Amino acid sequence: MQPIIRCREVYKSFNGSTLFKKKKPVRALVDINFEVRSGECFGLIGPNGSGKSTLIRILSTLLFPDQGEAHVCGLDVVKRPYQVRPFISRVSVDAAFFKKLSAWENLRYSARLYGVPLKLAKARALDVLGELGFPDKRFTDPMEDLSRGMQQKIAVARALINRPQVLLLDEPTTGLDPRSKREVEAYILRLRKETKLTIFLTTHDMYEAEHLCDRVAIIDKGKIVALDRPSGLKRLVTRKKGSNRVTLEDVFMKLTHKEWVQDASADEVDADSEDDGD
Ligand SMILES: Nc1ncnc2c1ncn2[C@@H]1O[C@H](COP(=O)(O)OP(=O)(O)OP(=O)(O)O)[C@@H](O)[C@H]1O
Ligand SMILES: [Mg+2]
Repeated sequence: MQPIIRCREVYKSFNGSTLFKKKKPVRALVDINFEVRSGECFGLIGPNGSGKSTLIRILSTLLFPDQGEAHVCGLDVVKRPYQVRPFISRVSVDAAFFKKLSAWENLRYSARLYGVPLKLAKARALDVLGELGFPDKRFTDPMEDLSRGMQQKIAVARALINRPQVLLLDEPTTGLDPRSKREVEAYILRLRKETKLTIFLTTHDMYEAEHLCDRVAIIDKGKIVALDRPSGLKRLVTRKKGSNRVTLEDVFMKLTHKEWVQDASADEVDADSEDDGD
């Protein structure tokens, strides 16, 4: 079966500040290669500044890669951005809204944009928000009066209003209280189990990566240094003395923030572990 997301040799750099002309460009993504299967929940974890959001922006056609190819639903994101967009939705850590408008007015705006009938859009939104524990009576409150967690739940509902095939979630639970976090995670798990939606998720939460994702890639300094099922990733690390199990956090600590010279060995890890997982 054709993968629903495919990246081949993707590179992306950003120019340094014009104030400091000699500053070297930032290499945000370096030789990114991976595929995501339809219906899979694929996780991307890595330190701050490792390139996760840049990759999500490329997959959602908001940025173009400098080199390489990225395909979503069989379409090249550079050559066919307008055709890709109806198939995808993105939830970012800092979702943008019309702050003076209510939650429902914001959702209604998106529904109109996507050509979803308003009655259907409202039913879909209330269904998602019910699952996420969003209080019904706040549905008509201005966005600026809602807490960050509530706004994030509206962002998830908005992303699902057009029934996308691919949901790109950039740190969807960052900044949420523990209950809201669990509600969003449970909903993602339900989507993964009960629908054919493909989910691409970045997170700093190792529990989330391990429990929600079928496979997880670890990115460091723009490079994917390992990719496997969570259980396969954990086999890459030996148990610490005195500890009875290896955690995904141990793997994260071991594989990230290494020097570039060590990357050759990381590539070997990547290749081996991918074979394992498939
Ligand atoms: N528009 C931009 N202009 C210049 N540099 C950028 C831009 N966007 C990202 N970068 C740089 O690219 C690198 C990767 O950033 P990115 O936001 O993708 O990281 P991230 O893994 O999402 O980090 P975080 O976990 O903090 O969200 C960083 O060094 C960042 O400063
Ligand atoms: Mg980010």
